[in-house]
Amino acid sequence: MLQQLKEILSPALYAHCTGVAQTAAELAVQLDCDPQQARLAGWLHDCAREWPAEQLLAFAAQHQLEVDLYARQAPVILHAPVGALVVKGWGITDEEILAAIRKHTLGEPGMTTLEQLVYLADKIEPNRCYPGVDELRRLARTDFRQALTQASANSLRYLLEKRQTIHPQALAFWNWLVS
Ligand SMILES: [Fe+2]
Ligand SMILES: [Fe+2]
Repeated sequence: MLQQLKEILSPALYAHCTGVAQTAAELAVQLDCDPQQARLAGWLHDCAREWPAEQLLAFAAQHQLEVDLYARQAPVILHAPVGALVVKGWGITDEEILAAIRKHTLGEPGMTTLEQLVYLADKIEPNRCYPGVDELRRLARTDFRQALTQASANSLRYLLEKRQTIHPQALAFWNWLVS
């Protein structure tokens, strides 16, 4: 499966997925989750990230995936639920892994620890480079919940600054984190 992944992803995205797998496995050890599950979810989470918008929309239509107003405006967010279905087709049956992939972009209130750590690993894996990422990496090791909240805040801030729409599910995730 990893060989297949290497063939379909650009080198940069493959490196990112490798980084997320590694970071997710480390966080899983720290948080008493299964590192194998975390590693696999990390490897696979972005398998549909480079699909063109038309392909994501066509796949979603074929598989009766909900395409809301926001996904219609920015089909790239579909890569998470589409990716979960793609790896299911590759034989991944672990629902916890599939859910972690499905939720990794927007987050969701009530996420499991595995889902949370994949969300955060995506933001702090070693190839990520943006202001504040080192601080976030440190925080992830000392106060995971704070780090997760910080990661969600970063995403929302980014969208606000770019004057982009914010998906209600991302906002609901934030509200859940701080309440
Ligand atoms: Fe992604
Ligand atoms: Fe990613």
